[in-house]
Amino acid sequence: MIKQPIGIFDSGYGGLTVLKEIAARLPQYDYIYLGDNARAPYGPRSFDTVYEYTLQCVRWFFEQGCPLVILACNTASAKALRTIQQNDLPKIDASKRVLGVIRPTTEIIGKFTKTNAVGILATTGTVQSNSYPIEIERFYPEIKVYQEACPMWVPLIENNEHNSPGADYFIKKHIDHLLEGSKEIDTILLACTHYPLLMDKMRQFTPPGITILPQGQVVAESLEGYLLHHPEIEAKCSKNSKISFFTTDSTEDFNDHATIFFGKPVISSHLSL
Ligand code: DGL
Repeated sequence: MIKQPIGIFDSGYGGLTVLKEIAARLPQYDYIYLGDNARAPYGPRSFDTVYEYTLQCVRWFFEQGCPLVILACNTASAKALRTIQQNDLPKIDASKRVLGVIRPTTEIIGKFTKTNAVGILATTGTVQSNSYPIEIERFYPEIKVYQEACPMWVPLIENNEHNSPGADYFIKKHIDHLLEGSKEIDTILLACTHYPLLMDKMRQFTPPGITILPQGQVVAESLEGYLLHHPEIEAKCSKNSKISFFTTDSTEDFNDHATIFFGKPVISSHLSL
């Protein structure tokens, strides 16, 4: 059987925060990362556009032979995953798998909250899709979900402005607004894979006692469980501990920025879609 890498997709750099945790937990596998930086951010885009872009990238992963693709992007998971799983996969290749980041996170959120009040910080697209409240309700009907869209955060991060004083204004504004929703909120989920880059700043503006939960480790743990329970997919994943990076925009920019997200130097190749 031909073994191939696992595909990891994001609109830009955010998915690298997930890949970092996946590679730390499952270092034996090979991975191909694709950031669609040329078309990021996805957050403000329509369902149709996010679906079209994501499907195009998923097809590219399949052309590379990937047996499994992780959409390490909440916006793509919210707006494209279901249609791809239900309508496209059966037509393209029913033996392939595409997974997202919303399900693994909503499955375990109940372990973190004691007050049953959870705040979600995400892109406008993810908030509008209502995916988090709907999925959390399925697993934990007792939890009340409060959402806040942070449209400026991804552009600040993608432009490397997230440590500037200007960023503080937008970070504080959205945390304050979210927490105005309820004094009971004890857990804030970072439902955008870019946001872990803002962790230090967010802690400054969040009262102590509130847990801020990034998704990387949760997704990595869930992938480990998935591969254990799906030996037929696991058997198709190559294991040479090799990671390749692709971007649809400038490789120089990608290599410069990616290190902040991935924690190690990155050398990328260009992809024209
Ligand atoms: N990192 C992506 C997410 O998790 C979104 C970034 C974007 O707006 O493109 O939602």
